[in-house]
Amino acid sequence: MNKEEFLKRYLTDRHNSRCMKWDSLKSKYGRKDLVSMWIADMEFKTPEPVIEAITKRAQAGVFGYSNDWPEYYDALSNWMETRYHFPIKKDWVRFCTGCVTAIAWSIWAFTKPKDACLILTPVYYPFHNVVTYNDRELVKVDLDYNNESGHFTMNYEAIEKAIVDNKVKLFIQCSPHNPAGRVWTEDELDKVLSICKKHGVIVVSDEIHQDFVIDKDRHFVPAAVVKNGKYRDIVVTLNAASKTFNLAALIHSHIIITDEKLRAQYDLFARGMNRTELNILAMEAVQAAYTYGDEWLDSLLNVIRDNLAYLKARLQKEAPEIVVTDLEGTYLVMLDLRKYIGTENVSDFIVNKCRLAVDYGEQFGDNYKGFIRLNLATDPNLVKQAVDNLVAAIHNKA
Ligand SMILES: Cc1ncc(COP(=O)(O)O)c(C=O)c1O
Repeated sequence: MNKEEFLKRYLTDRHNSRCMKWDSLKSKYGRKDLVSMWIADMEFKTPEPVIEAITKRAQAGVFGYSNDWPEYYDALSNWMETRYHFPIKKDWVRFCTGCVTAIAWSIWAFTKPKDACLILTPVYYPFHNVVTYNDRELVKVDLDYNNESGHFTMNYEAIEKAIVDNKVKLFIQCSPHNPAGRVWTEDELDKVLSICKKHGVIVVSDEIHQDFVIDKDRHFVPAAVVKNGKYRDIVVTLNAASKTFNLAALIHSHIIITDEKLRAQYDLFARGMNRTELNILAMEAVQAAYTYGDEWLDSLLNVIRDNLAYLKARLQKEAPEIVVTDLEGTYLVMLDLRKYIGTENVSDFIVNKCRLAVDYGEQFGDNYKGFIRLNLATDPNLVKQAVDNLVAAIHNKA
């Protein structure tokens, strides 16, 4: 499907639809007249077969306790095998009400209060909160940032030192990494996982952005398949169809544990949670998405790639001192605005001068004041509007 057709069929105006991204602008940013580029969901309707699957189930009219069914696992496994060489066995899969909740549950299952949990910053802000809110010690190691290329890399020495110094028990990995935009290579993953293995650290790998590989030279490698599964005894994989197919409000995600011992440890915890049954509407949706969603996803990726190319080309010409993250994966791009606006009063500038609703760098890491994160899974006209506003405000400021 070409871009025009995709936009015609799926682009939708979400104002006044009980939508957080647009309908919370006033309460969150203090004004309504903003281009909404924050939070990670999209202006696109999910594929028709997904809507049909939910509608069919809804029309049956009963929403009682449900069983799972083999075709669900077939669809999940097939998607993961075809795309990422990671066929999934039914026995490995546990359900949760979202990937962040799954991180919380993993923290409970695999650590004790006050245990140290490692994150690599800048990273999606709930990674910070989910550790501290659950009474664990948060250990942060900064990614290395090249402030000319916008490329992030891991600092293995600092990671190993932090693990040893703090007796880290759990590493919460983001892969692909939001908002650093990295699709970690197998080699990079091998290095960090081997450090974890050496020091007995369990790795919870949040792979919710797995399907958003923007740079065609990159390939997403699940932590569980690195070096033919060498690290399976320490890896817990979290993923979902929610980010990929715009299904976040169905609150449904997977915890995939291939290792029997880790699974037993998780199940012991989950027993105490009692309610781990299924969300039938979400499962109908996910099965349909993984069965029929390929073409839709490929078209979506091209829209995101074009939005990124447009943003980069215009900024390079009109505000060349903005550093754009080297976005290999996810649809969330960081802009380093420091050369134009410094690090103070950023939100006032962005909201009141640029009329943009964004996420701010300091939400993701201590050293990222003066950065903003923009969501590119949206209408190209909104990207144009956002760039127009940003460039005009920067030039007015000068
Ligand atoms: C890395 C990462 N994990 C988790 C989430 C949220 O997932 P959920 O809504 O399933 O908790 C996001 C949303 O942006 C994310 O970027």
